[in-house]
Amino acid sequence: MSNRVYLFDTTLRDGEQSPGVSLNVSEKVQIARQLAKLGIDVIEAGFPVTSPGDFAAVQAVAREVKGVSVAALARANFNDIDRAWEAVKDAEQPRIHTFIATSDIHLKHKLRKDRQQVLEAAVAAVKHACRYTSDVEFSAEDASRSDLDYLCQVLEAVIEAGAKVVNIPDTVGYTMPDEFKKFIESIIDRVPNIHKAVISVHCHDDLGLAVANSLAAVAGGARQVEGTINGIGERAGNAALEEVIMGLYTRKDLYGLVTNVTTEEIYRTSRLVSSLTGMMVQPNKAVVGKNAFAHESGIHQDGVLKERTTYEIMNPAMLGITRSNIVLGKHSGRHAFRERLAELGYNLSEEEINRAFGRFKDLADKKKEITDQDLEAIVEDEIRELPNTYELSYLHISSGTTIVPTATVGLKIDGETVEEASCGDGPVDAIYKAIDKITNLHLVLEEYVINAVTGGKDALGDVTVKLRRRDNGRTFIGRGVSTDILEASAKAYINAANKVVYESKMKS
Ligand code: KIV
Ligand code: ZN
Repeated sequence: MSNRVYLFDTTLRDGEQSPGVSLNVSEKVQIARQLAKLGIDVIEAGFPVTSPGDFAAVQAVAREVKGVSVAALARANFNDIDRAWEAVKDAEQPRIHTFIATSDIHLKHKLRKDRQQVLEAAVAAVKHACRYTSDVEFSAEDASRSDLDYLCQVLEAVIEAGAKVVNIPDTVGYTMPDEFKKFIESIIDRVPNIHKAVISVHCHDDLGLAVANSLAAVAGGARQVEGTINGIGERAGNAALEEVIMGLYTRKDLYGLVTNVTTEEIYRTSRLVSSLTGMMVQPNKAVVGKNAFAHESGIHQDGVLKERTTYEIMNPAMLGITRSNIVLGKHSGRHAFRERLAELGYNLSEEEINRAFGRFKDLADKKKEITDQDLEAIVEDEIRELPNTYELSYLHISSGTTIVPTATVGLKIDGETVEEASCGDGPVDAIYKAIDKITNLHLVLEEYVINAVTGGKDALGDVTVKLRRRDNGRTFIGRGVSTDILEASAKAYINAANKVVYESKMKS
């Protein structure tokens, strides 16, 4: 058996099924490019039949992201498969991923089909997909709750029909690690042609065991692991790929297996996904959480200072997390700034560097010590790939404990500044009402989150908002960063409004 584990990332499909997450085409392409840089083997870019937006995103990823397989999801019917192929066919290595449930619960209540009908649909789907490409993956949805004999019968039949990868999902996060390992071993024992396919697993985190189950399955012989960055996904989410990767790496003594990943890209990928989806990473999250390498106890600090490995099983530098705290200040020049950004892994054009440098200088006037986190925040805030319809020109606020909060906002639209003023329940509400008067977009603020990028009174405020369109219910994430939290709030709202306009333009 090969010692290579393939990583299949479904952040753009299952990850996007996280409640409230909605990415536009440009954001999906941005994430896919970063996943390719990370060294992911297969990117599942979407489920094309579900909407024209999903189709367009899969097509854009397939056309623009190179050096990686791009998969499109399809139920086990010809129409889904035809749409999936149409969307993915221009990829360097296109894959069709077709699925049907095999558990009796799903057969009886959802599909209303008997076992023979499902088996026939699975085989027909795989044969149909194989007319387009030899790279066909079949998933037996809810496999872990399926009858093992029947599942093995389906797997044998789809491999015979041409499936090159057979995926065993723990769709509802029900299985336990020991049990799942034995389940995979039994499949290997019982399916006579299993050596002709790669066994994949796809675990959900309903009981918090998605990563443990994935690793157990690998120990049992699975060689493809599906998951998402930061573990986002349907309900409690999917297996967090960064944890799977670092589990295999850190315990290579135990597993003896390798992946194709450039681990130094892990942290950056995690930040990008968090920033574009608006799904915050909890501070104590394994591998990429803010506290994952923070040592609070004096005994631990002492140990780490004497020898890092006393309390650290992974080197944060390996994940692309830099340790330098005070990197640049007011007197730092463009050269030092550019060098530091390059060290942090940002590969920016001259125009982007100029814009980011302007922001850096403004910040350095207000904040004495500029850390890597500050740099990451301003670069990510400044360098957005979407065309901006609205830009903040100025903002005046009048607020206090005894007056009605009032905001005057100037937005630049096509080079002209448009001004509006409004009162509100608080200064942020007043700003948002003034912006609404200018944009006329009919948006509802669903979530507002503010974080400090670093500690201290002069810390940058990082605001994330989720806005919902009243007409079609679509949600949009916006982010803004500034030492002034009201300015950060305005920028976040404007960022989301720009995404609304972008999506409308793409559709018209
Ligand atoms: O969880 C699941 O079973 C899935 C399949 C479509 C692979 O997402
Ligand atoms: Zn899933």
